[in-house]
Amino acid sequence: MNTPGYPSVRMRRMRRDAFTRNMMRESSLSAANLIWPVFVIEGERRTQSIASMPGVERMSVDLLIERAREAATLGVFGIALFPVIEGVKTPLAEEAYNADGLIARAVKALKAAVPNIAVITDVALDPYTSHGQDGLIDEHDPTRYVMNDETVAVLIKQALSHAAAGADFVAPSDMMDGRIGAIRGALDAAGFFQTKILAYSAKFASSFYGPFRDAVGSSTNLGKSTKETYQLDVANSDEAIRECALDVAEGADMLMVKPGMPYLDILARVKSEFKMPVAVYQVSGEYAMLRAAAANGWLDYDKCLMEALIAFRRAGASAILTYGAVDAARMLSRKN
Ligand code: PBG
Repeated sequence: MNTPGYPSVRMRRMRRDAFTRNMMRESSLSAANLIWPVFVIEGERRTQSIASMPGVERMSVDLLIERAREAATLGVFGIALFPVIEGVKTPLAEEAYNADGLIARAVKALKAAVPNIAVITDVALDPYTSHGQDGLIDEHDPTRYVMNDETVAVLIKQALSHAAAGADFVAPSDMMDGRIGAIRGALDAAGFFQTKILAYSAKFASSFYGPFRDAVGSSTNLGKSTKETYQLDVANSDEAIRECALDVAEGADMLMVKPGMPYLDILARVKSEFKMPVAVYQVSGEYAMLRAAAANGWLDYDKCLMEALIAFRRAGASAILTYGAVDAARMLSRKN
């Protein structure tokens, strides 16, 4: 009987040679898909290593410019700035919208020196709050609930200060309700209609953010508190889609799924439902796992990084935030 399949069908025929493998590869990765998240500190010619993120350094703006120049030369799409505030952190996070603050100065310097790389700023209050939450807390509430609308009012000021400094994208990572529409309205009213919004729409209450909180110095302040009253429950997928739908309606230019690798199902679903550019964040814990395994000789960092990045592309990501962005871009430039 002539049943379809083996031996007339042999899948391995097309895998035998590099030319057929290359021809039929469905996904591709380019530096144009990569966003490099960086930690910025005050000062000149200063770097600090981060124990839980080997290979990543906090750096002062002057050094950031030198490294951004290299990233731009390699074709990296964007840089995502995260501030490390060494001065006063306050309950109301006033420093978050200082027109002459660390991020505003970093954006101005970057746009002046390296205009061809996209500058993406983080809109959230956690680097600035004395309690380490992304928003303002209700001191009268025993749960110290993060207040939504009061927080959004501050996020608007923060986003406006970033736009005024010249940010290409503002990226709200705070998960307050209604912040995308509120920020879009305020940007438009101030004439910043070209400033794009990369919405952290599907951001989960993940434990994979641990090393990042060390890097920005919010983990001690946060203590045992969690972000579960605003970030998504890790068990939920439909709820993530609803968050995305709202952000699309409110004017988001791009959506984000975060973390990355354990959430590829969400990424694929968001891409297929909304058919718009989606970013994914390979977060600090994912990066730390790769580095730690590589340091032990258990995994090949270069190969596993590239495999994870192509997997994000396959699942539907247009942009990938990765601490390995420059490493990956170097590898891609050697290949061509
Ligand atoms: C906070 C923020 C976090 C990350 C980016 N922005 C951590 C958090 O929500 O606690 C995590 C990034 C990473 O782990 O690499 N606004």
